Amino acid sequence: MTTYKLALIPGDGIGVDVTDATMKVLRGAAAKFSFALETETFPWSCEYYLETGAMMPADGIATLKGFDAIYLGAVGWPATVPDSVSLHGLLLPIRKEFRQYANIRPHRLLPGVEGPLKSEGFDILCIRENTEGEYSGAGGRVHQGQDNEVAVETSVFTRTGVERILRFGFEQARARRKHLTSVTKSNAQKYSMVFWDEVTRELAAEYPDVTVSHMHIDAMAAKMVMAPEDLDVIVASNLFGDILTDLGAAIQGGLGFAASANICPDRSGPSMFEPVHGSAPDIAGKNIANPIAAIWSGAMMLDHLGETEAATAVLAAIETATGQGIGTRPGSHSTDDITAAILSALEA
Ligand code: IPM
Ligand code: MN
Repeated sequence: MTTYKLALIPGDGIGVDVTDATMKVLRGAAAKFSFALETETFPWSCEYYLETGAMMPADGIATLKGFDAIYLGAVGWPATVPDSVSLHGLLLPIRKEFRQYANIRPHRLLPGVEGPLKSEGFDILCIRENTEGEYSGAGGRVHQGQDNEVAVETSVFTRTGVERILRFGFEQARARRKHLTSVTKSNAQKYSMVFWDEVTRELAAEYPDVTVSHMHIDAMAAKMVMAPEDLDVIVASNLFGDILTDLGAAIQGGLGFAASANICPDRSGPSMFEPVHGSAPDIAGKNIANPIAAIWSGAMMLDHLGETEAATAVLAAIETATGQGIGTRPGSHSTDDITAAILSALEA
């Protein structure tokens, strides 16, 4: 029997609630499909920061390296630790250190979920560059507090970084409906985004079976509302992908349904799976967070580990539950009830 070693980082707020829910379902999947999950839970969080002065220990990355995958609930408790500290101390270093350069986020309506749009038939896979671009972290501030204060934050686009994310997108498109939309703002950003467009065109020649569209981020925002059914795979930079995937979450019914995977495609390090939603301090620990985004992210983890059948079954169980109206509307069911419904659909 194959055993997978998982590092669990429930983190803050509802991250804890939804990690528990996800592990219940994944353990059910493991039992049904005859594999084993060996988990170690790390308490790294804002609470941990207040106790130790760091979001994770100095050897945190080295510790995580030994795992087959990382599952993360959510990071952030802004009442006590600024988000810029908590995220730069835990989530973002994990993405960068393990070269999880492909952030993949599926956007489609689950059965029974009513999105805000008239359109019902969309199925979008957003692929967001996850390690450089506008979130490269390159920059600085001088003359702080003076009239001549300057803050500079530089976008970094490397050929390696741009090429590999686009290639990843082309491969995904090839396995789906063979349409890729590359999102830039090359009419206004004449260096980085013109470069991105050029690399897209170079790679397109290698994927003649994939049709390619180029869209600017502003037009894409409108498109996702007006005609999302035209879209298949979207590839976007770190910032643009960040924004578009919150929009994607909105059109699929809300953040409670938005799953995400931070993939290290060359598998030189573990990949990390997390729902798109944050820690939602106001509803933490109340058994009302929707665990569907988290459980779907767990299914993506099983898929990445090679347990394709189990992944498909977990997703089907989610769809069975939502098809019965469970977890489809905010407040309709508790975290435990939604989890139990998914688990029993899985075991049926
Ligand atoms: C996300 C989040 C993070 C990001 C924040 C919390 C740093 O918004 O995963 O989309 O921008 O990557
Ligand atoms: Mn975001």
